Amino acid sequence: MTLPPFPPALTNASSVAGFAAALAEFACRVAGAHGVRVWVVHDAHLDAVAEEGRGLGLSDGTLAGRALAGGAVLEEGMLSALPFGCGVLEFVGARPEGLEALQGVSPLLTLALEGVQAREARRGHGRIAETVEGLVRRLGGSLNLREVLTVTAQSAALALGFSRAFVGLFDEVQDGGARTGEVFTYGFDDAFTGGIGVGPVSFERLMTRGEAIRYDRARDAGTPFAASLAELGPEVAVLAPLSARGRPLGLLYVDSRTPGAGASEDDARLVLALAEQASLAIDNARLYAIETRKREAAEALREAGAALAGSLHLSDTLPRVLERAVTLFHADAAAVYELQPDGRTLNIRSALGLPSEYVLRVRAKVGAGVTGRAAERREVVAARDLTTEHYGGGSRYTRQLLAQGKYPYRGVVGLPLVTRAGVFGVLTLYWDAPLPLDEDDQALCGVFAAQASLAIENARLYEEELRRERESAVLLNVGRLLGEDQGDETLAEAARLSTLALSAGRGLIALLGEGGEVTRCATYNLHPPRPEELASLLSQLGRGPRPLARRACLPVAGSALIVPLHGGDVVGSGGDGRGILGFLYVDDPGTEPPSDRVLALARSVADQMALTLTRERLLVALEREEARYRQLAEGAHDLILSADTQGIITYANPAAARLLEPLTGPLPGAQVLSLPTPATQGALRAAWDAASTSLAGGRAEIQVGSYRLEVRLSAVGAGEGVLLVARDLSELQTLAEEITRRGQALEAATSRTLELRSYLTLFTQAQEEERRRISRELHDDTAQVLTATTRRVARLARELGGEHKERADDILGDLNAAIESVRRFARNLRPSMLDDLGLLPALEWLASQAQTETRLEISGQERRLSPAAELTVFRLAQEALNNVDKHAHAHTAAIRVAFGAGQVRVAISDDGRGFTAEEAEAQARSGHLGLLGLRERATLAGGELEVVSAPGQGATLAFTLPG
Ligand SMILES: Nc1ncnc2c1ncn2[C@@H]1O[C@H](COP(=O)(O)OP(=O)(O)OP(=O)(O)O)[C@@H](O)[C@H]1O
Ligand SMILES: [Mg+2]
Repeated sequence: MTLPPFPPALTNASSVAGFAAALAEFACRVAGAHGVRVWVVHDAHLDAVAEEGRGLGLSDGTLAGRALAGGAVLEEGMLSALPFGCGVLEFVGARPEGLEALQGVSPLLTLALEGVQAREARRGHGRIAETVEGLVRRLGGSLNLREVLTVTAQSAALALGFSRAFVGLFDEVQDGGARTGEVFTYGFDDAFTGGIGVGPVSFERLMTRGEAIRYDRARDAGTPFAASLAELGPEVAVLAPLSARGRPLGLLYVDSRTPGAGASEDDARLVLALAEQASLAIDNARLYAIETRKREAAEALREAGAALAGSLHLSDTLPRVLERAVTLFHADAAAVYELQPDGRTLNIRSALGLPSEYVLRVRAKVGAGVTGRAAERREVVAARDLTTEHYGGGSRYTRQLLAQGKYPYRGVVGLPLVTRAGVFGVLTLYWDAPLPLDEDDQALCGVFAAQASLAIENARLYEEELRRERESAVLLNVGRLLGEDQGDETLAEAARLSTLALSAGRGLIALLGEGGEVTRCATYNLHPPRPEELASLLSQLGRGPRPLARRACLPVAGSALIVPLHGGDVVGSGGDGRGILGFLYVDDPGTEPPSDRVLALARSVADQMALTLTRERLLVALEREEARYRQLAEGAHDLILSADTQGIITYANPAAARLLEPLTGPLPGAQVLSLPTPATQGALRAAWDAASTSLAGGRAEIQVGSYRLEVRLSAVGAGEGVLLVARDLSELQTLAEEITRRGQALEAATSRTLELRSYLTLFTQAQEEERRRISRELHDDTAQVLTATTRRVARLARELGGEHKERADDILGDLNAAIESVRRFARNLRPSMLDDLGLLPALEWLASQAQTETRLEISGQERRLSPAAELTVFRLAQEALNNVDKHAHAHTAAIRVAFGAGQVRVAISDDGRGFTAEEAEAQARSGHLGLLGLRERATLAGGELEVVSAPGQGATLAFTLPG
């Protein structure tokens, strides 16, 4: 339960009896008891001091005694005893919760009882103690100085039975004397402003010796002291000094204007005692005031810190810092100076209470003046009074003001604002009066500056964060825009966003065509530039973002930047090899070049744009590829199907539709796994699972209707479905059969060719054999017969003589010619020298027999070849030379024989009219088979005939034979 407040009778009790009565009443009420008795120890006995209620006959003091001894609550039947200090509360029929509540305040009751007992004990110490105690009681530890001093004056007057008193505080203390300034009066009318002078003698008595001074007009009239009190006109007066820790504070003055009042020694001591109390109170109050101010300052600092931390924009934070600083330190003006990028100058960034001309014209230089020094030393710099101290000024303006004595402030403090990034600037406070801050205050200033710095740093971080956020929003937007479409409007919007993001006034985006020239251009706030202007901008393009000199900007711009849109290596990125898709250009009337931050942002914006544009181009390329693949699939002979992960057919090429749809109905939308006959569905399912799980894919042979299909399955992308490529095995079967049939036919043809070949060989051999037989016959038989005949005719001629001999000789001549002719014929049929002497002499003979002048050239290591090879060479040369004689009309011809390793090359050439393949073919068709025979013989011998000829260019027949 909550305890009701203590009644005033309890707290203000001036005697133990009064206190006990009030307590009994209060405790009985709170505990809801029948009755309460209050026992208090007095002269080693426990006396019943007060009681309330009924049923107290039960209480005889034993329980109370035991409770007091044990120091704890005791209960016995209806009785309960609660000890407190040297007293006990005894209840009859108390409620437990009430008892408990009272037990909770027993320490308070103890204190109160002790207080009352002490007061009672002191009461006997006479009038002085009583008065002082009364005074103390009245003030109750008040810290209100006005109240304390007024009451002190009143107490003094009342205690002495005088009518007036005042406490006067010294305003000035000098030349051994003092004057009171502020007064706290009793009994004076309002017109009295106080102020009495204390001469050196009295001052010495009061302050150095600590005595009270009694004045009695009857006795002291005419003294210097009387003169100083003339204004007050007292009959009797007592003055006592007020001082604390050796410092004179003021005096307590009491007087009476009633003649014959008189002031005793005792009265003087009383006033002295009261003055002591007042001194103590003043000292306390002062100390307290200082404490309070510090506490308040600390509190204000804390509060300022919290308030500053809450503001996250520098533009808010700085005014708040100023406002707080001015309030906290009672400054008349304040300014935040920001250190410029040059690191040497400080400009006012935000000001409060400073004249605007001052704000506009004043500059601080690091190291000079209060502000500059604070920035340089990074510590609090205080100037007490600029009219007497010389700190110099940071700018001509301040120096001028100082020199002319027109500087508007006297006290100035510079507080460095240092963040983690370094010195941000200085918070400078200005006072019209000399600096009112003591050491402690300056330390507080330092703490405040640290807090302000923290707030500034926070705001900066936050603004940086915001800026990043804003920038990424722009990037995101540009990306999103261009990702949606790349129409003119979108491009213009992208130009607008980029221009604003780069804090520029106007801007454009130009896109390049295949040839590297500007084909599209979107502008913001800018007339579309002429082609030559665009070309000139294009020529300014560097690798990254670049500030442009004024003359390279578009007309009327003061500064600009240009940044290329790099496409990377992308299909259709243009033939210039740099992969530049276009560029972004922004400009501004201001001539300040773009900051690093802007350049960095420009790069990000351009990269983002390029990325999106590239992606779009890639998508277009992808679409083209897709179309190509589709075309391939459409035209493919194989059956191509694609199905989603569930097996639903999403695409079927015409080949598949042609073959399967008559059996299955429309393929798209059908379940691919249920296409095959039940017997082969398992195989397809297994292949499907294989394709879904492995890169190698699956393979199955299935039956659909009458078709036997071989199907290959492979997964498309990452779990996007499956591609099926099928081949009609029945068709394949037919094809295979056809191939076999053709193979067989080919085989037959080949064997027939071989047969023909061997037949031809045989035929050639037979022909050669026949030639040899005829030749031998001609040589051995016909020629012999003719020779024998010649001899007989010769003998006949010799025997006949005369006229007959002449005729016989004639016949003999004819016969010899015939013999020669037969011999030549026989040799042509089969030159015996080929057998006897070898190939080269035979060829020599052939050359000598030719009508065209023919030479024989030999190269390489001469050697004999196999008889068959030699014969082939001979026959080939024979026919070739025949042709030369017959058709070439050549001046000369040549047979060249080159012996190589394991082969011999023979070429017969002439410088005649030459011929064409068509001509030779035509001749062959009309039965001229010489060349064909040559080719055939060369092939039979394992060689090949080459014919090189053109009209007017002569002809060369060449062949290479193994051997
Ligand atoms: N050295 C050559 N110079 C010019 N024309 C030639 C030469 N050799 C062949 N020909 C041409 O090629 C044709 C074919 O020659 P081929 O030897 O096959 O037939 P042919 O000599 O006319 O008759 P055959 O050789 O059957 O007696 C000749 O009719 C001739 O027109
Ligand atoms: Mg011929």
